[in-house]
Amino acid sequence: MSGGMGGSSNGNYGGGRSGNDEAAALPPPPPPAVRPPGREHDVSTDTLDGEAVRRKNVLESWSTVLAKNDASWDVLQAEKRAGWESEAVDWRWRQRDATFGHGGSSKVDRVNNRGMVPSTRKYVVFYREWMPKLAPELFGHAADESRPRVFADVGSAPGGMCEYLVGDLGWSGFAFSLAPGDEGFGMQFASPRLAYADSDVSVAGEWRRLLDLVGGRAVCDFVNGGVVIDRGQQRVEPSEASDTLAMEHHLEIYRNELLLGLHALRPGGALYFAYQLGQTALLMRLLLALRPAFASVRVTPTFAVGRTPMYVWLGGYAGLETAAAAAAVRFLSETPVADAAVEEVGEKTGGGGGGCAWDAWHQSEWSAEVASLHRELRESLAHVWTTQADHLRKQRLEAEHAFESGKGGKGGGKGGGKGRW
Ligand SMILES: C[S@@+](CC[C@H](N)C(=O)[O-])C[C@H]1O[C@@H](n2cnc3c(N)ncnc32)[C@H](O)[C@@H]1O
Repeated sequence: MSGGMGGSSNGNYGGGRSGNDEAAALPPPPPPAVRPPGREHDVSTDTLDGEAVRRKNVLESWSTVLAKNDASWDVLQAEKRAGWESEAVDWRWRQRDATFGHGGSSKVDRVNNRGMVPSTRKYVVFYREWMPKLAPELFGHAADESRPRVFADVGSAPGGMCEYLVGDLGWSGFAFSLAPGDEGFGMQFASPRLAYADSDVSVAGEWRRLLDLVGGRAVCDFVNGGVVIDRGQQRVEPSEASDTLAMEHHLEIYRNELLLGLHALRPGGALYFAYQLGQTALLMRLLLALRPAFASVRVTPTFAVGRTPMYVWLGGYAGLETAAAAAAVRFLSETPVADAAVEEVGEKTGGGGGGCAWDAWHQSEWSAEVASLHRELRESLAHVWTTQADHLRKQRLEAEHAFESGKGGKGGGKGGGKGRW
């Protein structure tokens, strides 16, 4: 599954896309790739077992308390509800699924790179705009160029971030991504200054292998966790409930990306990662653990707002030798991911099971610590959530418009009147 270090597997597409809106154009204009974020919450409790209902309630409690403290989150949730309740949006998605397939039956990507071809272009354009704004001292004109900069990029394919850092800025680095044979995209960008290895960071402990490949601790100025799981890249066919509630796959990915970052970064370095989920209970818990080890935190939108809600930026790393970094490493590496492991930890320490692993990874209540982190993030979160709410509103209004126009014409709205998407 995983290959050794070497030149980039240039142009080697795996065809793991499911009609992603990050992809380059395919006629007709690409439809939104996946159902709007948060739609996965729309799971009838009748179809869930007791534990899943409990977890869903934890997510909802967090969402409710966050909405009380953050108007932009409240507005985003209201827009999501409007979308879920909209007959036109539902009609639009059924129309899209009939054309492009859905989940395992997606018609756009499975064989011989049929369908959307991911390109580095949009990524490069996006990073050119955002990275100098996030950290002028690293990426801007003012950057100190006396020492060659080194980065590691996890989930690197097609290679937009690498193209930006190596091609534009002259850095050198290490890129890791899911092998094309495992439904990964394949790298499009290659350079003698970029080493590449296949890697599946949903495998527990994979960060240790990657740390060896980059040459050990404290060698990188910047670590990017760019993994976004496409539907075609899930090991199991996702059910609506497991998308949101069974988190182990996502958790392992965050653990590997973040543990690699905490070990590979030099003091002063920066960590950036994509947060793909519509729920923020996990994000808050991760940030509570990471924030003390960095000088600054903020979030940014992505260019695929309908798919990946945000990137998280943590700058000014304190360094692995500090107590704050050690605590973050302990949280990420010792908090059990599976409930069975909670029981084991309980037995070893002579205590009981002590709750479920899932709860340890999800924030459910407001606290002084949460309030303080939220104060720091409020402005950048508002930007992300407002951007996302605007995007969803636009989609809904367009669906409603197409639905209304279709009603009068052949087949009517329900039967698949011709929309503009
Ligand atoms: C949004 S793309 C990353 C784009 C990239 N940062 C760029 O600038 O071009 C997400 C990447 O994560 C990869 N990926 C998905 N699951 C993965 C896994 N388990 N391990 C490693 N990479 C994975 C995908 O194949 C894809 O290449």
